[in-house]
Amino acid sequence: MRTLTGLQPSGTLHVGNYFGAMRPAVQLQEEGEAFYFIADYHAMTTTHDSGELRANVGGVALDFLACGLDPEKAVFWRQSDIPEVCELAWILSTVCPMGLLQRCHSYKDKVSQGVAASHALFAYPVLMAADILLFDSDRVPVGEDQKQHLEVTRDLVTKINENYGEETLVHPEAVIPDAVAKVPGLDGQKMSKSYNNTLPIFGEEKALRKKVMRIVTDSAAVEDPKPVEGSVILDLFKLFATAEEYDEMIADHKAGGIGYGDFKKRLWESYWNFFAPMRERRQELLDNPGYVDKVLKEGAGRAREQARAVLDRVRSAVGLH
Ligand code: ADP
Ligand code: TRP
Repeated sequence: MRTLTGLQPSGTLHVGNYFGAMRPAVQLQEEGEAFYFIADYHAMTTTHDSGELRANVGGVALDFLACGLDPEKAVFWRQSDIPEVCELAWILSTVCPMGLLQRCHSYKDKVSQGVAASHALFAYPVLMAADILLFDSDRVPVGEDQKQHLEVTRDLVTKINENYGEETLVHPEAVIPDAVAKVPGLDGQKMSKSYNNTLPIFGEEKALRKKVMRIVTDSAAVEDPKPVEGSVILDLFKLFATAEEYDEMIADHKAGGIGYGDFKKRLWESYWNFFAPMRERRQELLDNPGYVDKVLKEGAGRAREQARAVLDRVRSAVGLH
């Protein structure tokens, strides 16, 4: 059983990334083989500044390692260290109907948010399919928003295998953790860096606290009972708190007598404490210069062996040699 996932280095990682992608990946590295990478080719669809891209790759690698990715258990590399993925993307694109990509929400969403409608942005799902298929992946942990891209990937496997033989590519399954499929942002929409509503995993204490304390609530008075449905404070608290703490917070909402300021304080403390061990680990890694690069380089070496074997199989199936 092989698990693979990619994380885009396109900004500061947030709590949605942690629960939707990083934590499931860290848990799955305990079972079977784990292949994780930093999707820097993908980030180029939105980042055109070389310095920024390089810094973001380093930052995401550091953060992922701090959050529990264990290079002894998981192969961890930078996507662009294995350019074979671009060749597989080309091969896949030759069987990919335009309509399949035209239906993809993420392309339309990004264009409507002002991202330039480039060919790469349109073909993004094909490169993502290549990432997954180049490693014969069985399981792909992702957030709900990536589900459609996994469907595109499976469609492409079917097309390739119908045409070139059933043994050519492996069908992957998406793994979408139910409870946290959609972590809400500070404004109640899905947490996303594009909506500017995130709680970062790492950051300066005062600035992060301010973000929590500024969550907009209704104008219920301190003594009033507070609604529990659709409460961002409660939904976020649930991710960090124990079941008992969460139940107590629900009861306190229903009873009234406690203001939103107190609830936000509880949320702040649970969030800050939750990431304390990761912050400590991150500092240890920062004190060890060269470590992150070394991990990525070793990972690329290991990943490449697998990639070469699969690409040779595909090349031969499609008639390239
Ligand atoms: P963003 O929406 O901030 O641009 P990305 O698209 O880079 O985040 O997502 C990286 C990973 O984190 C993906 O697997 C994605 O599904 C997951 N993810 C992002 N935001 C959330 C969220 N709010 N809830 C759950 N998972 C999320
Ligand atoms: N598209 C994914 C995202 O935005 C990142 C990604 C690229 C990925 N290639 C992948 C995720 C392969 C899983 C598998 O989050």
